[in-house]
Amino acid sequence: MIRFEHVTKRYADGTTAVDDLSFEAGEGELVTLVGPSGCGKTTTMKMVNRLIEPTEGRILLDGDDISAIDPVQLRRRIGYVIQQVGLFPHRTVLENTATVPHLLGWKRGKGRERAAELLDLVGLDPSVYGDRYPEQLSGGQRQRVGVARALAADPPVLLMDEPFGAVDPVVRERLQNEFLKLQARVRKTVLFVTHDIEEAVRLGDRIAVYGQGRIEQFDSPATVLGAPATPYVADFVGADRGLKRLSVTPIEESDLDQPPVVHLDDPLTRATARLRAEGARWAVVLDGHDNLHGWIPAGDSATAASGGTVREHARRMEAWLPLGAPLKQAFSTMLQHDAGWIAVIDKESTGRFLGVLTPARLHEALRRSIDADAQHVPRATVAVETVTSVTTAAP
Ligand SMILES: Nc1ncnc2c1ncn2[C@@H]1O[C@H](COP(=O)(O)OP(=O)(O)O)[C@@H](O)[C@H]1O
Ligand SMILES: [Mg+2]
Repeated sequence: MIRFEHVTKRYADGTTAVDDLSFEAGEGELVTLVGPSGCGKTTTMKMVNRLIEPTEGRILLDGDDISAIDPVQLRRRIGYVIQQVGLFPHRTVLENTATVPHLLGWKRGKGRERAAELLDLVGLDPSVYGDRYPEQLSGGQRQRVGVARALAADPPVLLMDEPFGAVDPVVRERLQNEFLKLQARVRKTVLFVTHDIEEAVRLGDRIAVYGQGRIEQFDSPATVLGAPATPYVADFVGADRGLKRLSVTPIEESDLDQPPVVHLDDPLTRATARLRAEGARWAVVLDGHDNLHGWIPAGDSATAASGGTVREHARRMEAWLPLGAPLKQAFSTMLQHDAGWIAVIDKESTGRFLGVLTPARLHEALRRSIDADAQHVPRATVAVETVTSVTTAAP
């Protein structure tokens, strides 16, 4: 969809901002460009909408060399979101959002309708915020208006240059999550610039890690974290890349152990006797539909002697997650609830119990996903050092 072929940009003063850059973002793909300040990220973006012309090489959009496309026409196909947002201060939120449809000569009513739709899409109620002015919004809300405006003419391509850089970390995380949901719906081809590796791995289908004017590695987040291509990338993604990798590796069904299970209506005496006979110290408690209800300790015979069913003695299960949740969430849930294991239920939120994840299995899951990605990399260079401490730190 967007293809860079040996693109170099030298500014008039001799600075080589981008040096022989080649990469491609496929249709509907979200590529994050990450690297330190001054490494050429913004220059890369501005060459796509021809705010800057390359010195050498070419950029193709959907197979067409963009140097042959009229810049104004080109920019209609490309939404552009920047950190400072650049909203017009004396225009309302609705008018700001409708800027591009207006420029495209849409009828006023149609433009405003589209703008209202988009504000809704980015989580701003148009009836509440539509008539406000930018200064009457928080930083996070302004960024959302920026995103809505960029989407207004429904361009196939979005360029986002550190769009969430100026908001505080909590709001940023919310904006990132909302943006991921939005992207799942609109499936634009996105180039997203950030200097924050956490943001890059969270959002990107693939990541381009920039060194000085060059891409050092272009890979999936899991591969960049698990098998950094160069010492520079390893250094950039940080010594805690094993931990970061936890956030991009999902819990899979094969990661789960099957613990002893009892049902709510089982007589307590029989249930606990069986668990003790099996040498189990606890069991997962399920309801009649095999949905997760809680857990129960095998206990001593005194508890069992009190009679009744499992139901009266079952304890609440605090530590559980749906299948597919990132291992990082599993790890943090374990720590938060001081749990040696967590229950995993069906992704469809029916509550159907699938098994438990233990620290040892969590480690294995991480190990496996690294191995799968990094077969071409000598094992010793693969990052698992922090993962070892994950296992030992868990209760
Ligand atoms: N108009 C310009 N003239 C000369 N040098 C520039 C210009 N714009 C950017 N640069 C230089 O090009 C390099 C890359 O800049 P930029 O693309 O803005 O980096 P980033 O967005 O990664 O921080 C930097 O060294 C910067 O100083
Ligand atoms: Mg920049």
